[in-house]
Formats: sequence, structure tokens, C-alpha cells
Amino acid sequence: YESALSPRERIKKTESIFRRILILQCCMRQLQVATGNAHKLSEIRSLLGPEWEVVGLSDLGIEEDIPETENTLEGNALLKARYLYERTGQAVCAEDTGLEIRALGGEPGVRSARYAGDARRSDANMDLVLSRMRGISDRSARFRTVIAFLDDSGRSHLFEGVCEGSIREQRAGTGGFGYDPIFQPEGYTQTFAELSTDQKNAISHRGRAVRAFIDFLIV
Ligand code: IMP
Repeated sequence: YESALSPRERIKKTESIFRRILILQCCMRQLQVATGNAHKLSEIRSLLGPEWEVVGLSDLGIEEDIPETENTLEGNALLKARYLYERTGQAVCAEDTGLEIRALGGEPGVRSARYAGDARRSDANMDLVLSRMRGISDRSARFRTVIAFLDDSGRSHLFEGVCEGSIREQRAGTGGFGYDPIFQPEGYTQTFAELSTDQKNAISHRGRAVRAFIDFLIV
């Protein structure tokens, strides 16, 4: 059977075996995530299921805020992952997420956390978005998440997840976090903040990025 495989198929098979070894050897079903955001950790935990131990920065005794100084989501995700990798020397991942609003030329984008200032207050960020969107009829927007995974040897792998939707005129709902009360995913009448965690995870940017990452680990 082996000899019936073409060289390309053999390479793919070898890659797949290496990925399995990667899970067994370096992850051991523990995933270190370079974030102190409890909401993100909780979403990632429920996406990965009980067989994964998802460990955040504070679980690792790291209380510092990792500076996000790059000007792309990819750059910031890599920067956060490298920061943690330098401290633990183990396989780690980090993610960066941005809300990209078409009528605002893709803003707040990579500046989503600090859109209304360094205090990183979600209420102020949403107020600023709502005021900039006042009177604008094109309300289309999307969330984009980039996950950076550094394997045992520090090699980087990037995964992306996108959720298309629109910006509401007003907040609705109390669930979720960040911009959830003003973002209505495509095909839904509720905002993310009105959906359950499972409903959000099934369609969200982060859910999609995490599933792409898991596919990479287990294919
Ligand atoms: P960061 O990825 O932690 O830099 O987050 C960027 C900004 O987007 C922060 O203001 C977050 O609160 C917000 N954000 C990240 N993920 C989500 C989400 O799933 N829903 C709503 N807001 C989010």
C-alpha cells in the first residue's frame, strides 16, 4: 500500500504523522494561550472541550500586559505567542482579534482594544463606533481572529477565522464581551451578546480560527 502512494501523498502522510506526534509530545492536551482575557479563555475552553487543559497567562504566573505594538493582527498574535514561548520554551498559541467596519475603512481593526483610548474600555469603544456610524447606511462589518501557534521548535503557524455581520444602531444583549452588544452576525436577528456561548462559538471568528487550528493539529 505504502509503495502505491505518490511522492506528494507520502509527504502528506508523513506530515500528518508528525502533527499527531506534535500533539502527543508537545501539547500533551495542554494548550498555553498568551492571553489574560478570561472571556477569550472561556470561549477557547468550550471550543476545545474537556479533554484539553487551556492555560492562560495568569495560570502561568505571568501578570504583565504583553504590549501589542504591531500594526496587523498577524503581527500582534505572533508577538504575544513569541513572548510566552520565550518564557516557557513550550508550544504556545496566541490570538488577536479585530472588528473591521467597511464604512470606516476597516477601523477599528488592529486598534480595536484601544479604539477609544488606552483604558481599553468596551463601553467607550462601542460608543465611539456608534457615534462614527451615525447616519451611515452601509453597516457591514466583520470580526477577524488570527491565531499564531508556535510549535515546540518555535516554528510559527497562522490560522484565521472571519465572521461577517453588521453594526447595530444600538447595543442589545448582555452576554459575551467587547463589541458583542453591537455586532449582529450575518443570518441572525440577534447580536452576539444575545446568543449563548455555544451559539456564538458555532459561527464566530474565534470559533472558526480555533477549528482551523485543531484541524491542523489532528489531521
Ligand atoms: P484583542 O484581541 O484582545 O486585542 O481584542 C481586541 C478588541 O476586540 C478588544 O476590545 C476586545 O474586547 C474585542 N474583541 C475581541 N474578541 C471579541 C469578540 O469575540 N467579541 C467582541 N469583541 C471582541
